[in-house]
Amino acid sequence: MTGPLDEGQVAVIRVAVAGAAGRMGQTVCAAVEGAQDMELTGRADPALGTVLADVLIDADVLVDFTLPTTAVQNAREATAAGVHTVIGTTGFDPARLKHMTGANIFIAPNFAIGAVLMMQFAQQAARHMARAEIIELHHDRKVDKPSGTAARTASLMEEASPRLGEVPVHSVRLPGLVAHQEVILGDVGQTLTIRHDSIDRESFMPGVLLAIRRVGTLPESPVVGLENLLTSG
Ligand SMILES: NC(=O)c1ccc[n+]([C@@H]2O[C@H](COP(=O)([O-])OP(=O)(O)OC[C@H]3O[C@@H](n4cnc5c(N)ncnc54)[C@H](O)[C@@H]3O)[C@@H](O)[C@H]2O)c1
Repeated sequence: MTGPLDEGQVAVIRVAVAGAAGRMGQTVCAAVEGAQDMELTGRADPALGTVLADVLIDADVLVDFTLPTTAVQNAREATAAGVHTVIGTTGFDPARLKHMTGANIFIAPNFAIGAVLMMQFAQQAARHMARAEIIELHHDRKVDKPSGTAARTASLMEEASPRLGEVPVHSVRLPGLVAHQEVILGDVGQTLTIRHDSIDRESFMPGVLLAIRRVGTLPESPVVGLENLLTSG
């Protein structure tokens, strides 16, 4: 953002995308281009012949949908350059983002509002039912297993009700699927099933755009989970 704004003028957030040629990256680029308060300033992806350093120069915020092995390094480079970072990449421990300074980091294993609600309902139900298991179902080119959403759901449920013990996670990978999850809870004579389906990657975009708008003003960093942006404003 440059210079003081005239009255009524909206601040434009300059956004670069890492993993821009990927399934999520392409959808994010289109969503940013469609947002009036954002400008897409860079697409970093080896598949496009562009490296991260090329796109950081013109960006206020970096959005990363790459690989578990590269997301941490990208966040380190971006924050060191003073660029706030929104991470959607899953399959690594978010604790690895601690102690990165220079700019803020926001990370969410799932940017779909329905998935956030599923996790909250599952956490609530965990306090009242004897046992639980999770089935997560994704497209066959997903690299990590179990999904970041399933791992987070299980840990939220285990925290809410230690008597559940470890919540088992079962992973299904098939063509035709996008991102789906069932949390099944059982107790004497009854079961409860909580299910969420992302049938299109558009489902993640309102959450990603919200994170881009809010990452620069986080009270602490890193912040993990979209629910933290929904409850605080
Ligand atoms: N948080 C969420 O809501 C959410 C939703 C869907 C997917 N995901 C996660 O997003 C990630 C990406 O998923 P996808 O389906 O788009 O994968 P994908 O394989 O289609 O795309 C990944 C892209 O990253 C690029 N890449 C690799 N190394 C790079 C680097 N160093 N710099 C820049 N780009 C690099 C690859 O060339 C590829 O184009 C996965 O970890 C997936 O689990 C998260």
